[in-house]
Amino acid sequence: MTLAAVLQRALAAITLLVGAPAIAGEVEVLHYWTSGGEAKSVAELKASMAQRGHTWKDFTVPGGGGQNAMAVLRERVLQGQPPAAANIKGPAIQEWAALNALTSLDAMASFDRWDDVLPKVVADQMKHKGRYVAVPVNVHRVNWLWANAAVLRKAGVASAPRSFDEFFAAADRIRAAGFIPVAHGGQDWQDFTLFESIVLGVGGPALYTRALVNLEPAALSGDAMRRSLELMRRIKPYTDAASPGRDWNLSTELVIGGKAGFQFMGDWAKGEFIAAGQTPGKDFLCVPAPGTAEAYTYNVDSFAMFQLKGWEAQKAQGYLAYLLMGKDFQERFNLRKGSIPVRLNMPLDRFDDCAKVSARDFAATSRSGALVPSVAHGMALTPAQQASMRKLVSDFWNNDKLTVSEVQSQLTALSAPSQKSH
Ligand code: BGC
Repeated sequence: MTLAAVLQRALAAITLLVGAPAIAGEVEVLHYWTSGGEAKSVAELKASMAQRGHTWKDFTVPGGGGQNAMAVLRERVLQGQPPAAANIKGPAIQEWAALNALTSLDAMASFDRWDDVLPKVVADQMKHKGRYVAVPVNVHRVNWLWANAAVLRKAGVASAPRSFDEFFAAADRIRAAGFIPVAHGGQDWQDFTLFESIVLGVGGPALYTRALVNLEPAALSGDAMRRSLELMRRIKPYTDAASPGRDWNLSTELVIGGKAGFQFMGDWAKGEFIAAGQTPGKDFLCVPAPGTAEAYTYNVDSFAMFQLKGWEAQKAQGYLAYLLMGKDFQERFNLRKGSIPVRLNMPLDRFDDCAKVSARDFAATSRSGALVPSVAHGMALTPAQQASMRKLVSDFWNNDKLTVSEVQSQLTALSAPSQKSH
């Protein structure tokens, strides 16, 4: 960027910050937030944009985890019609930036001191070649187990399980009491979400990183991975017959409605409990997935900004970027989304205990080294690697004839040089 362009952008950022009258523009935003809690979170964003006179245009592509949305995004960009912003995460941000499709947010970022207010692990993912190209809005923790408090009580389960032994003992009691032990939605990304929490619980952050992030053959073919897969298979009989294909939020509804005991899911599930008027610690419980209390799989929702033509559109886009990083927005949005603000040092008094535990554990695990990127939610592998692993894990979950050792050798093949892109 030329010096003049840098100055012009800095001026635009300053104009926004001091609150000069806005030039109204339209922002089209691609996202996949369609469940009850998600829709309420997006409504916060729309309202804030409308307050400044900007028009929000929803570009919604339903489908949990965002796989469908990413496919549609590719088509739109190829047609030369990108949205202003899209919810893109992790290494996928780098792929879009490498195609030169994203706009630099550096002027805004340096004016608003993003480097000082973001955890480094997050800031690094938002940058391409040292420049900000995406804005983070939250930190979701993925390694959670959700429980219906009344179902546990009725089944005689004294407290939410901390280990897999406790988990299976509780699941047996829940089944005997006539409830569904595990509300699982049998979609590939949900199978993958369950799998990564199991690997973390069985092998800890070291195995998780070696196997799922670094794709080390010895870890993928080793004993701890074998035990993780065996354990995953043991969980399946605790799911109900209607599980295959079910959306994640419908599974959460089974827990909310007292039909099921547990769900393994990231804390966007909390958005559903909250939207249904439930209270953590009373109606529902959040505990780290068995064996993972000392670790944390993070998943950061972020918006990449695409290059747009036209000053008004750019102005509205700039305002969106500024808004997303604002303290006020991060509080209101995350209270509904189930996640915690990604900005450091934000007061959490209005947040519930699940969020407070999440914030505490995020800080503790960043110090201890047990903070790991969620592989199932696009924070570690390239989209292609992630898709290959997701398919293997889901095939294993669905096909009881596929043996553990077959899957282990297929997983190990993912580490072949032709599959690895970095
Ligand atoms: C996203 C969440 C979303 C969830 C379900 C995750 O990958 O990060 O924002 O709520 O998928 O769609």
